[in-house]
Amino acid sequence: MAKLTIKDVDFKDKIVLMRADFNVPQDAGLNITDDTRIRATLPTIKYILEHGVKRLVLMSHLGRPDGKVVEKYSLKPVSERLKELLGEDILFLNDCVGDNIKQSIQSAKERIVLLENLRFHAQEEANDADFSKQLASLGEIFVNDAFGTAHRAHASTEGVTHFLKSAAGFLLEKEIKYLGGAVSNPAKPFVVILGGAKVSDKIGMIENLLPKADAIIVGGGMAYTFLKAQGKPIGNSKLEKDKLDLAKSILQQAKDQKKDILLPVDNIVVEAIDANAKVETVGEDIPDGKIAVDIGPKTAKLFMDRLSTAKTIVWNGPLGIFEMDAFSKGTKDVAGFIAQLSCTSIIGGGDTAAAIAKFKLEDKMTHISTGGGASLEYLEGKVLPGVAALTDK
Ligand code: 3PG
Repeated sequence: MAKLTIKDVDFKDKIVLMRADFNVPQDAGLNITDDTRIRATLPTIKYILEHGVKRLVLMSHLGRPDGKVVEKYSLKPVSERLKELLGEDILFLNDCVGDNIKQSIQSAKERIVLLENLRFHAQEEANDADFSKQLASLGEIFVNDAFGTAHRAHASTEGVTHFLKSAAGFLLEKEIKYLGGAVSNPAKPFVVILGGAKVSDKIGMIENLLPKADAIIVGGGMAYTFLKAQGKPIGNSKLEKDKLDLAKSILQQAKDQKKDILLPVDNIVVEAIDANAKVETVGEDIPDGKIAVDIGPKTAKLFMDRLSTAKTIVWNGPLGIFEMDAFSKGTKDVAGFIAQLSCTSIIGGGDTAAAIAKFKLEDKMTHISTGGGASLEYLEGKVLPGVAALTDK
């Protein structure tokens, strides 16, 4: 990596300010329902603690409180989960800037401090210089391990780097290694799987990856705009009318570049999207009034045949409405198939990571990104401000 990483830094007797992405899902009782993002930062936290740090000050956002104090977005539950995972007391502070906070950090008896939600201050998202300076004044070295927020140029990801030596944590480094490697130098054959509801969310990725990939497999709601663009009947399936010309142009580009785009050849359809709806398998043509909710078995086989020879697979977006069991088979079968391949399998964050977790295949993939928007933007070839701002080696 061209940027400083925590291995390049001496932490002895230093106060380290570390940005993590603890933006985790919670239920109505504020119980954390998935702590993957917290566990993913443990190697960095442990490494810093093992290297003689005086104090480790952790900071993060949670949700989108829009610059106001919103109780349900407090990071308090995260401090409790971290304490359980680390087996060490953590001092939780009820704000993230100010003299009192600075004082509490200096005099803490605990080695680890967690600050309250950065986004309780509007200056965080505004990347306000004064707020960045106040954050920076809390520590002597800055570590960024918040890959999930690296696409945001906020005070705690970008602004703070103007005031402190700034290094990448292990999670950030790992994400860049796998996602960056797939984009710049994938082992071939390189097959990209795209799914999810909308073509519009994936345009940047298609444009960036089509020249590098050998084939692009398309499933999920976005597939039906492509099928419609080919003149196929799609019933009441998801259609982005204003993206039809774009879909046609992508299909043409693929043809010109001699790249395959694989689309569903059969489908699971319903009359209304409901977990108990009566499902039916139809071919490529979707009858009037029917909505496609998953790929059919022939499509799953077609996709698996193509994946079987791949050396690198990047997957972003589920192939059906996997959240409902009746419509999850296509995504599940393809995920299970990839799990037993020996290629490099890289799973984008967000919904795709949630699908892999639902099928309990996390340990079988080479890398599952902790970033939703961040992994998408990185795979689109965009520069992530949180990474670009780190100190060069
Ligand atoms: C995410 O969950 O993708 C990150 O934590 C960023 O959150 P945001 O989209 O609210 O900036």
